[in-house]
Amino acid sequence: MKPKLNLPSFMSVIVGLSLSLEHCPPPCRCDRGISRVSCVGAEVMPVFGSTTQEVWLVKTNISSVPQNAFANLLNISHIYITDDDNLRFLEKHSFYNLSTLKHIQLHGIKTLSYIDQEAFKELPNLKYLGIMNTAVTSFPKLEYIKSRQLDFVLEIVDNAFIKTLPANSFTGISVNALTIILNNNGLREIQGYAFNGSRLEEVYLHRNVDLERIDEFAFDGVIHGPTHLDLSDTQVHSLPSVGMENIEKLQVKRTLTLKALPPFSAFLHLQTAHLTFPSHCCGLKMLKRLRRHTEAVFCNLSRAALGKHLESPAVFSQKYLEHQVALHVEENLNVPTPHSAGYNMSCPANQPQDKDLFVVSLSSDQVRDDSDLALCDDPHIDNGPICTPLPDALNPCDDVISQGLLRVLVWVVSLLAISANSLVLLTLLTCQQKMSVTRFLMGHLAFADGCMGMYLLLIAFVDFYTHSQYYQYAIYWQTGSGCNLAGILSVFASELSVYTLTLISFQRWHAIFNAMRPDRHMRLRHITVLMLVGWLLCVIIALLPVLGVNTYQRVSICLPMDTETTVAQAYIISVLSINVIAFIVVCLCYLHIYFMVHNPQHDSSRFDTSMAKRMAVLIFTNFLCLVPICFYGLSAAFHQPLMTITDSKVRTFSLA
Ligand SMILES: *[C@@H]1O[C@H](CO)[C@@H](O)[C@H](O)[C@H]1NC(C)=O
Ligand SMILES: *[C@@H]1O[C@H](CO)[C@@H](O)[C@H](O)[C@H]1NC(C)=O
Ligand SMILES: *[C@@H]1O[C@H](CO)[C@@H](O)[C@H](O)[C@H]1NC(C)=O
Ligand SMILES: *[C@@H]1O[C@H](CO)[C@@H](O)[C@H](O)[C@H]1NC(C)=O
Ligand SMILES: *[C@@H]1O[C@H](CO)[C@@H](O)[C@H](O)[C@H]1NC(C)=O
Ligand SMILES: *[C@@H]1O[C@H](CO)[C@@H](O)[C@H](O)[C@H]1NC(C)=O
Repeated sequence: MKPKLNLPSFMSVIVGLSLSLEHCPPPCRCDRGISRVSCVGAEVMPVFGSTTQEVWLVKTNISSVPQNAFANLLNISHIYITDDDNLRFLEKHSFYNLSTLKHIQLHGIKTLSYIDQEAFKELPNLKYLGIMNTAVTSFPKLEYIKSRQLDFVLEIVDNAFIKTLPANSFTGISVNALTIILNNNGLREIQGYAFNGSRLEEVYLHRNVDLERIDEFAFDGVIHGPTHLDLSDTQVHSLPSVGMENIEKLQVKRTLTLKALPPFSAFLHLQTAHLTFPSHCCGLKMLKRLRRHTEAVFCNLSRAALGKHLESPAVFSQKYLEHQVALHVEENLNVPTPHSAGYNMSCPANQPQDKDLFVVSLSSDQVRDDSDLALCDDPHIDNGPICTPLPDALNPCDDVISQGLLRVLVWVVSLLAISANSLVLLTLLTCQQKMSVTRFLMGHLAFADGCMGMYLLLIAFVDFYTHSQYYQYAIYWQTGSGCNLAGILSVFASELSVYTLTLISFQRWHAIFNAMRPDRHMRLRHITVLMLVGWLLCVIIALLPVLGVNTYQRVSICLPMDTETTVAQAYIISVLSINVIAFIVVCLCYLHIYFMVHNPQHDSSRFDTSMAKRMAVLIFTNFLCLVPICFYGLSAAFHQPLMTITDSKVRTFSLA
């Protein structure tokens, strides 16, 4: 009897409770009482209970989020709308006046194309807004959110149709600092004042692979920040120089289009930089040097001043200090300082001994980037912001030609080589005599050496033009067509030279070996055919790096020194082997000539012998010139920097 009575009443209690307090709307499932509601495949917007805290709408068949859809949910904190193929609009006041709402996430809504200007309004406790993988075509207006939470995170990612970031995009979202994640959208342009009126913490823009233009004033008008900017995997051509003062961490990895950075004085607080090109790190090193030096001068002077004015530290002349610092900076760093107003210094008078407490900030136009600051010597001494990729043996911070004497030498040698070889060519061409085999070969040798001279002249000219600023031009030069031209010239010239020298030796040997049989002498037509083959081979060898087998872009002197891929290594090793084989052939020829000439049984003409001697001198000096290039190439091929690029330049140029 008892159980029969108890069971129905117990049931009715449960049913009664769930009817009165807990009401889970039809297609939904509720957890934790009804505080967490998840609705899969809802046809209309469900009517949620007023105690609901978390709403999940998955795969609905609702075309828009209506006005005040969540207005009666007094404790709502999280709203998720995901994997939806029907939702097309967010209407005016879709998310309106929800004082408890912390988190909104719209994810994977391929049909969502329109968000009303006032869809998000009066959400004072919102901490996170995520709009991911939708079809919205313009950046949503978020100015009415007016959050008061600290550390608001705005995540708008994977939206392929958002093409521009207009002015004032982030105004009014939060009165406090914002972290903005805009990765992998279809952004092409960031307009001026895009971040106007916002307080920025971290700004991520990476993988916007079509992003080409950031307006110079994009970050103008920000109240503070950003402290972290990530533009990796984009196509930006330039960074703004305005509004970069607060950046502590800058990431622009794998962005090959960013060939030059803004004047380094724009980054006053930079601590870490992860960039694409090593040469950019050279410029940033100098920034830190300048900053340190200025601070040191200021601290020295202010300490001295404090010593003098010990009795009344508060009144020591700020003007005097500023003037002195300006003088010092000007003297020591060649930085023009028309007036000292750009230096804003504050000096905590009570702790003059702690130099870390001195704050010196240079206004950005004060430090002109064209001032001669050749301070970059050793990138491994920890004297600058952390910067990667570090300048390495292949891409040092120095100029194209770093030594002064070498610079002069390269000019002299190149001009000499061009004029002397032109003269040789001219006399050979205008000479009335019949073209002989020797003169024909000498003509080719002169042409090859003349090309080498042109290469050197090109390098000398680039060095002159980029003097003490090479890191600024490195990318333009090395990725441009000039470097390719220089590389082709140098490889073509050196290979043609080697080929011609080998042919000359062979021809000499052949003439002496067959001294008694004039019918067997090489005729001009044989040599012409051999030279044609040589030209073809040299052109191919010189063009291969342009076609991707190796590259002339790795080093400032445009030699094919890439060793990244197996093909590139194979190229270097093949070219070197060809040269070594040629050298061995030449040596063997002359060894045999030597024995033949010193053998009384062998009959060789005086003319042939003396010609062979003269040629030997020519050939071995010419080969000597090619040794350093080979040596460097070998060491590069085996990934063993036997000497640095600087050394190799010295040797290459001084012997070329
Ligand atoms: C909202 O939450 C608070 C505390 O978490 C609770 O006291 C209040 O009853 C809740 N209001 C509703 C309508 O559920
Ligand atoms: C979604 O709603 C439309 C009408 O609004 C209806 O025609 C369609 O069949 C619905 N789809 C599903 C999957 O329920
Ligand atoms: C906003 O919501 C609060 C309750 O949370 C209500 O008192 C107030 O009237 C609402 N304001 C508007 C403009 O709807
Ligand atoms: C920047 O924002 C301020 C208010 O925050 C506004 O007055 C000004 O017009 C905005 N500038 C631009 C260029 O939109
Ligand atoms: C600061 O003063 C110390 C000695 O007082 C001196 O060695 C140092 O070179 C000075 N630094 C600068 C930047 O003037
Ligand atoms: C210098 O800094 C102070 C606050 O530290 C500021 O009030 C003042 O405007 C600044 N002056 C200049 C010229 O930047």
